Amino acid sequence: MITIRPARTEDAGALPQIEQSAGRAFRAIPELAWLADGDNVSAERHRALIAGGACWVAADGRQQPVGFLSAGIEGVALHIWELDVRLDRQGQGIGRALVERAIEDAGQRGLAAITLTTFRAVAWNAPFYRKFGFRVLEDAGIDERLASLLSDEAEHGMPLDQRCAMRLDLSRADTR
Ligand SMILES: CC(C)(COP(=O)(O)OP(=O)(O)OC[C@H]1O[C@@H](n2cnc3c(N)ncnc32)[C@H](O)[C@@H]1OP(=O)(O)O)[C@@H](O)C(=O)NCCC(=O)NCCS
Repeated sequence: MITIRPARTEDAGALPQIEQSAGRAFRAIPELAWLADGDNVSAERHRALIAGGACWVAADGRQQPVGFLSAGIEGVALHIWELDVRLDRQGQGIGRALVERAIEDAGQRGLAAITLTTFRAVAWNAPFYRKFGFRVLEDAGIDERLASLLSDEAEHGMPLDQRCAMRLDLSRADTR
């Protein structure tokens, strides 16, 4: 049985391995296969994110994390930094449950939106987030913070034309 719970400091050590496993999904896309061997977010950075109070893990029956969503509060938005589900646990609704938990939490905090950056055309990236009501921001819709994140990603080798920033407007989500 999987439960979604707030991440604890002691979970941090397990998260890089989950990201590593999750990233193997990109081996299915030849031009992005290199991502599968890329660097992972360090346990130290996870500890800092967890301390911010906006990170959740999907834990199995033994309380071991098999997926996580790391986010942080940036102004009036909850920004999702990372979402990963271990490869052998993908496609079972765990990613959906983590995103739903983050949306619920952001709503309870009274935040205006949830933001993130992702790949436009990878099935489990932008199209996955669209199912929750996230929309791709274009041109003027991309604020300075998100533009700066996209540009940092490009500096780290991400193909900028394939990346996008997305936003879920929470008041809009409530009235859907
Ligand atoms: C993105 C990710 C966390 C999704 O987690 P998951 O547990 O596999 O997703 P779910 O089982 O909850 O699927 C939710 C929806 O996404 C769709 N989806 C998930 N994986 C998919 C895939 N490989 N191909 C097509 N659609 C997919 C499902 O169809 C599902 O929609 P539905 O409920 O309407 O059928 C997971 O695929 C992953 O870790 N990927 C690698 C890392 C990554 O890309 N992270 C996101 C970075 S922004």
